[in-house]
Amino acid sequence: MAKTRIGIIGCGGMARSHAARFEQVLDRIEVVAVVDIERDKAQAVADLIEGDVLVETDYRQIFDHIDAALVVLPHHLHHSATLDCLRAGKHVLCEKPMANSERECVDMIAEAERQGRVLMVAYCMRFHPLVAKMKELIDAKAYGEVFQLSIWTEQLTHPPEGHWARAAATVGGGQFFSHGCHYIDILLWMLGRPVRGSHYGTNLCTPWMEKEGTSNATIEFESGALGYHFGTWGAKGTRLGYAFHAHCEEGMLELALGPGQLIVHTRGEEHVAGKPVARQRQEVLLEAKNAKHTELEMAHFIDCIETGAKPLTDPVGSLEGLQVIWKLYEAEDSNSIADLRGLGLGTWQG
Ligand SMILES: NC(=O)c1ccc[n+]([C@@H]2O[C@H](COP(=O)([O-])OP(=O)(O)OC[C@H]3O[C@@H](n4cnc5c(N)ncnc54)[C@H](O)[C@@H]3O)[C@@H](O)[C@H]2O)c1
Repeated sequence: MAKTRIGIIGCGGMARSHAARFEQVLDRIEVVAVVDIERDKAQAVADLIEGDVLVETDYRQIFDHIDAALVVLPHHLHHSATLDCLRAGKHVLCEKPMANSERECVDMIAEAERQGRVLMVAYCMRFHPLVAKMKELIDAKAYGEVFQLSIWTEQLTHPPEGHWARAAATVGGGQFFSHGCHYIDILLWMLGRPVRGSHYGTNLCTPWMEKEGTSNATIEFESGALGYHFGTWGAKGTRLGYAFHAHCEEGMLELALGPGQLIVHTRGEEHVAGKPVARQRQEVLLEAKNAKHTELEMAHFIDCIETGAKPLTDPVGSLEGLQVIWKLYEAEDSNSIADLRGLGLGTWQG
């Protein structure tokens, strides 16, 4: 089968991260064009890719050369660029979060359907081998029912003055919308339908963020399980880095992304009240390199183009995750608890 010809639109930090991992899918794709309004940035990404790559500053100039586009632009541009690509008949893998409003997401879904093209959202965490394994174990109830899934992401992200990632209008919110969208997606994917929840954000100690730079979200699910996400862009030190803890009836699954391990912790003996230490067993279930594993995401995108299958991270599911975030933000503003019934993956009526 002929290789899919890819154009990268937007050549900042994330595009460089994608380009660095493409070599593992080069039997299926060929990056033929790169675009950035700043030519130097486009050229820097072109330099990471072997072979002749067209370097442009206007993405409309590459449509004759590509089959699919990887949209890696600031959030407020996802909508217009994705629509332009779809209208030119191109498949699109669009970075998260899909777009900054429900109307924009709906437009993108409708255009992909009209054009009969694949639109996939780049929620790369779902393709991480350790995350996929955790999902498989939770679904199989390998350690019984899950009753609490906590996800921590502690980063220091300090964009320079004037950068789009600081302003609420261009980001579409704050740290929670920009980065937390990965983990709301994961909580919904692993725990099912949400019932109610709350979010509190602050920009204390991350004054560079117009909206929150630190975010705490708690969600109750129909199963009775609770989900929690804490994310910050202000961490000057961290022990957890990126960590998921899934407490299940028979053990706790720990996903430690830094060391690249999925571990199960179980009790070696019954807990006796008043006895300080109950022996614990710890077993490493899987190891995988600490990386974004975007090559697996790209391989899935190509599978969907070739077979017509619905992407795992399809735009409808992505919209459904963002709807939860928008409800949580609304409730935070109105000092109330968000009613999340009728929302979540698999709920949207187009
Ligand atoms: N999945 C992840 O882990 C992850 C990590 C970081 C960023 N992202 C996502 O990737 C996207 C880009 O983020 P980033 O950190 O690379 O941002 P960035 O600011 O580093 O890069 C954006 C690039 O787009 C260029 N650009 C702006 N307008 C343009 C236009 N009209 N045409 C062409 N180029 C244009 C800018 O010059 C810049 O180089 C965002 O959606 C972000 O949320 C994902």
